[in-house]
Amino acid sequence: MTIRDATLSDSDDIYRLLSGFVTSYAPDRAVFDDVTFPRIIEAAAGGRAEFLVAEQDSSVVGYLLALRTPTLFAGGTILELLELTVDTPARGRGTGSALIRAAQARAREAKDVEVTVPTRRAADFYRGLGFHETAVHLKWSTTCWSTTPES
Ligand SMILES: CC(C)(COP(=O)(O)OP(=O)(O)OC[C@H]1O[C@@H](n2cnc3c(N)ncnc32)[C@H](O)[C@@H]1OP(=O)(O)O)[C@@H](O)C(=O)NCCC(=O)NCCS
Repeated sequence: MTIRDATLSDSDDIYRLLSGFVTSYAPDRAVFDDVTFPRIIEAAAGGRAEFLVAEQDSSVVGYLLALRTPTLFAGGTILELLELTVDTPARGRGTGSALIRAAQARAREAKDVEVTVPTRRAADFYRGLGFHETAVHLKWSTTCWSTTPES
């Protein structure tokens, strides 16, 4: 298995993996092709993201996306893992771990202070790779107006 940077030619494979991965949102192929995918490729080329794929026998079987963010509190950049998925039939063979270890190596090279990950499905997977629990991750959706305080 090879871990390498994602390229524009991986779009079909990554879209297929993304479609099986997301639970809270519905992926839109036009938005993916025209906006999000090229923007992430560009961010990775500029060092603002790590966008990696796992390739097995010339097929992409997993991908990882992490964004590099400048911070004041940590005195440097942090790398936040946002997306990680491995094709269902390829799971349990070390692919996910290989993607995380590659991202950890990139974080060391880039002198990021820490690697963080919000997760509700795979905390034990990350604990096995040296992560520890540090905070509760909350979100507020811009489409969720019912939760705004009444004026
Ligand atoms: C989580 C995921 C990326 C792991 O990929 P993988 O290639 O199967 O992982 P590995 O083979 O490297 O597994 C390493 C270890 O973690 C364990 N593990 C795998 N997925 C796990 C999960 N969801 N929860 C807890 N432990 C998990 C494995 O059993 C294995 O344990 P072992 O070393 O004791 O055998 C994969 O299961 C996946 O794509 N899941 C759906 C998407 C998802 O949940 N992504 C994470 C969102 S934050």
